[in-house]
Amino acid sequence: MVSIISCCKWFLTLHLLFAALVSAKSHGNPANELVNIMNQNRTAAKLSQLNDNAGLSCIALQYIEACQGNCTSNNTVKCKPSENDFLEVFAPNCGVELPTFGTITGRIVGCQPKYVEPLEAFSRVLVRDRAALSVLREKNHSEVGVGLVGNRHGPYFWCVLFSNDRINSTFVLENGGKGIKQRKGCYSGANIECSEAKRTKLFLLVTIFPVIFTIFI
Ligand SMILES: *[C@@H]1O[C@H](CO)[C@@H](O)[C@H](O)[C@H]1NC(C)=O
Ligand SMILES: *[C@@H]1O[C@H](CO)[C@@H](O)[C@H](O)[C@H]1NC(C)=O
Ligand SMILES: *[C@@H]1O[C@H](CO)[C@@H](O)[C@H](O)[C@H]1NC(C)=O
Ligand SMILES: *[C@@H]1O[C@H](CO)[C@@H](O)[C@H](O)[C@H]1NC(C)=O
Ligand SMILES: *[C@@H]1O[C@H](CO)[C@@H](O)[C@H](O)[C@H]1NC(C)=O
Repeated sequence: MVSIISCCKWFLTLHLLFAALVSAKSHGNPANELVNIMNQNRTAAKLSQLNDNAGLSCIALQYIEACQGNCTSNNTVKCKPSENDFLEVFAPNCGVELPTFGTITGRIVGCQPKYVEPLEAFSRVLVRDRAALSVLREKNHSEVGVGLVGNRHGPYFWCVLFSNDRINSTFVLENGGKGIKQRKGCYSGANIECSEAKRTKLFLLVTIFPVIFTIFI
């Protein structure tokens, strides 16, 4: 009996340790992680790092939000918002100062039935063919922004926008760089967490359950 209890405690300790690791990891913003992965891929090819532009990435989030529900069976996003939407809908919804609206010179979009970690999203959802890789490796790009949004039961949508404007001079967010708070999803370049339930649920499952068990034993 004693040995069973001590064995259980062992197991729970490990479980708690795991929970701590998971929660530490979940503080990251997957959109920021994806920017890092793309920059690593560029620097490996001796290309410059791209500046993470929060205004641009918020526009990427708005774009992909407008396209939700258009994920085809082969994981491509079948959706073409009009060019005017970027300036007339997406930018104002983000609080981008309109005179600073710059040039969008590349985009990569993708979707997946379930949430996947950024590294997998990079290789399996976004940069999965030659065309996308050449967009990522365009020499002229200087800035990047990543948006991501999904429902609890999927699908998840990712959008990457590129610009070749002078760094930090375009897509400036009003209110001292805060812009307008977004209801759903996450975007890169701003030090904010995602407004999204997935990680919270996982966190509760992994953390609270073992704590309750520990109390009852
Ligand atoms: C697909 O995207 C368009 C925007 O281009 C949107 O109007 C439409 O509602 C989307 N379709 C679905 C099924 O959500
Ligand atoms: C995915 O499907 C669309 C049409 O549904 C097609 O145009 C596109 O070429 C397909 N892409 C791949 C990678 O198979
Ligand atoms: C960059 O990404 C491409 C496409 O996913 C991949 O084939 C290549 O191995 C990556 N390069 C590095 C150095 O990670
Ligand atoms: C890169 O930028 C230069 C100068 O702005 C321009 O002349 C050139 O066409 C651009 N290259 C591509 C591939 O867009
Ligand atoms: C651009 O702005 C960001 C955030 O304010 C800052 O971290 C970064 O150093 C700036 N980059 C340049 C080249 O000014």
